[in-house]
Amino acid sequence: MSQRCVLITGAASGIGLAACSRFLRAGWSVVATDYNEAAGLAQLPGWTALCQDGEQVHFLRVDVSVEADVAAAVAFAMERVGRLDCVINNAGIGGAFGPITDIEVDDWDTTFSVLVRGVFLGTKHGVRALKAQGRGGSIINTASIAGLAGGSGPQAYSAAKAAVINLTRATALELAPLRIRVNSVSPGVIRTPLSESGGHDVAAAMADLQPWPDAGEPDHIASVMEFLAGAGAAFMTGENIVVDGGLLAGGARLDDRIGGNPGARQLVGINRGSTGERHRARRLK
Ligand SMILES: NC(=O)c1ccc[n+]([C@@H]2O[C@H](COP(=O)([O-])OP(=O)(O)OC[C@H]3O[C@@H](n4cnc5c(N)ncnc54)[C@H](O)[C@@H]3O)[C@@H](O)[C@H]2O)c1
Repeated sequence: MSQRCVLITGAASGIGLAACSRFLRAGWSVVATDYNEAAGLAQLPGWTALCQDGEQVHFLRVDVSVEADVAAAVAFAMERVGRLDCVINNAGIGGAFGPITDIEVDDWDTTFSVLVRGVFLGTKHGVRALKAQGRGGSIINTASIAGLAGGSGPQAYSAAKAAVINLTRATALELAPLRIRVNSVSPGVIRTPLSESGGHDVAAAMADLQPWPDAGEPDHIASVMEFLAGAGAAFMTGENIVVDGGLLAGGARLDDRIGGNPGARQLVGINRGSTGERHRARRLK
C-alpha cells in the first residue's frame, strides 16, 4: 500500500500552500487543489522538489463550491494515488463586506458557497471514500477566530466560519463510530495574501493587539494540521483548535480599560473584595 494521502483545498497560497509543503516533507502523497490554476501550477516545481518521487504530488484545478469538481478530486486521489486518509477543507475568500443593509444577496451566497458549501462538499465526498476504505481517517476544516465572536471579519465571513465550527462538531459526532475524526483549526491573524489583501500593514496593527511577539505565519497553522492528521491526535474529534498567538486569551481586554490589572501599574498586593478587610498594595521599585 502506498504512503498516506491528503487532499488539500486552497493549496496554491497561504495556509494551504504551507500545509502542502509540510505534508510532502513528512512523506505524505498530496493531492493539491485550488480554484486558481495558474497559481497552483506555479507551485508544482517547488512541491516536486520536496518529493521522494514524482508521483507524490498532484495538482488539480477545483472550485470547492462545485460538487462535480470536489467529487472528481476525491476520485482522482482514490484512482491515481490509490488511497485517501485526510481531507483538509481550507479554501477561502474574504467574501462579502459592507453595511448589512447594502450587501448583495449574490455576494452573501458566494461567501457561503465557498466557505460553508465547500467544507460540506469536501466532507461529503471525502467521507464517502474514507468509509469505503473502512480504516477511518481525518477531516480538518479551516475555520477562524472570526467564527467565535463578531468583530474579526465581515458579517458573512464571521457567520460562515461559525457554521464551519459547528459543522465540524456535528459531523464529528456522526462519524466517530467509523473512526473518522473531524476537527477544525481557527487561525488568528496569519500573514497570507488573504489577510494582507485589505491593503493594511497587518504586522504593525497586530503588534499592539497580539500577545505573542512573532507574527502568525502559514506554517504555524500547517503544523497543527499535521498534528491533527496524525496518530498524536488519535483521540481528538469535534474540536476547534484556536491558533492565534494568544489573541482570544485576552477576551474583552477589560483590564486595559478599567484598571483591573494593577500589576500593569507596578502595584502588587491583594484586593479583599467586600469582606470588610483592608486591601493591601505596595508599589514595585
Ligand atoms: N490568513 C488569515 O489570517 C486567516 C485567518 C483565519 C482563517 N483563515 C482561513 O484560512 C484559509 C486559507 O486562507 P489563506 O489566508 O491561506 O488565504 P489565501 O488567499 O492565501 O489562500 C486561499 C486559497 O484558496 C483558494 N480559493 C478561493 N476560493 C476557492 C474556491 N472556490 N475553490 C478552491 N479554492 C479556492 C484561493 O485561490 C487561494 O489559493 C481560509 O479558509 C481562510 O478563511 C485565514
